[in-house]
Amino acid sequence: MTLVTPDDLTDLEWRWRMLAPPEASDAARAVYQRTRLWTSGNLPAVDVPYDAQREDHWAAAARIADYAAVLPEARTVVDIGPGDGWPSIPLARALPHARVTGVDPASRRTEVCAANAVRLAVMNASFVTASADALPFDDGTVDLVTAAASLEETPNPESVFEEIARVLRPGGVLRASYQVWRLPAPEIETVALTEALDGLLYVYARRSQTPARERRYLLLLPSDGVAAEAHREALIASADEPRAYGETLLRPGSLLGVPLIGRLAPLARASMVVELRRWTTPWLVEALRAAGFRDVRATQHAGDLARAVARRLIASGGAEAVAQEFEVLTRALGEAAASLPGEEMVTAVR
Ligand SMILES: C[S@@+](CC[C@H](N)C(=O)[O-])C[C@H]1O[C@@H](n2cnc3c(N)ncnc32)[C@H](O)[C@@H]1O
Repeated sequence: MTLVTPDDLTDLEWRWRMLAPPEASDAARAVYQRTRLWTSGNLPAVDVPYDAQREDHWAAAARIADYAAVLPEARTVVDIGPGDGWPSIPLARALPHARVTGVDPASRRTEVCAANAVRLAVMNASFVTASADALPFDDGTVDLVTAAASLEETPNPESVFEEIARVLRPGGVLRASYQVWRLPAPEIETVALTEALDGLLYVYARRSQTPARERRYLLLLPSDGVAAEAHREALIASADEPRAYGETLLRPGSLLGVPLIGRLAPLARASMVVELRRWTTPWLVEALRAAGFRDVRATQHAGDLARAVARRLIASGGAEAVAQEFEVLTRALGEAAASLPGEEMVTAVR
């Protein structure tokens, strides 16, 4: 399904649609299924042990403590969209009496997750290839559902919320992180040149504040020959351009936009478009209530809280002195975040 109206297209979108008519896809198929490693082999406590000198490790440990503290007695935990095993694998370690099942429609992701769990001997985490809008669990059988940056990647969030409410038992809890859609401008265009499992990708993303949405176009190119050369040249040309959201900001008249799609389109093996609605906190709270959750609270993000503390400790040289207390401190930060009103994390009780 696409929300595009013909008078609502940028120059690049017009050109793209003319030269390489895109097939409507979803994020799991278009992006996550073709990504070798989502976390680039750097998943704290999964790929590398926690290090008290690293701000991101404080954030990761506090986030796991947050998820684990929601229902410490939980036996059945479902993690939506685990990527490479986050938070499923460290959470399974933190809750040794629970069985954690990660659910992701991209089989590539569940394969990477399962391999990580085996490599780390985390026996109480397993993974199934399925979509969050059709969870393979009976009604009222799950204690805790977790999600990290994944609910907003699903094509139809309302039906996903209803599905999560269906599988949770009464009193069961959803604890999820989500991205608040707050753009620095009413509209942002970016491009990215990346490598995928089955070829090279030229990606164009158009983000708008109102309506809150992201439209992402992907052009799949062969990994060798003329296409690879053009891709490499464009990658070099993009190196000094300003960036946003980890991608290259597309400036008016840039060679990385209309001229590049003109070069690459004839070489493409596939062209796709993914359209995702983006969220504000009031929208999310209302949508969860409408799906049948009785107590919905947006809270602070444990990672942000822990980062703020870690930054000061590391800068003052105090991180080393408290390294022995890393676990206790990150647990306290994680538990505190869930009780503080804020944004980017939500708790919803069934
Ligand atoms: C931004 S990644 C986050 C991965 C991981 N949770 C993390 O924080 O590193 C989004 C994840 O959601 C998954 N996803 C996309 N559509 C989904 C759906 N319909 N149901 C469940 N997961 C989905 C993707 O395949 C991907 O693994």
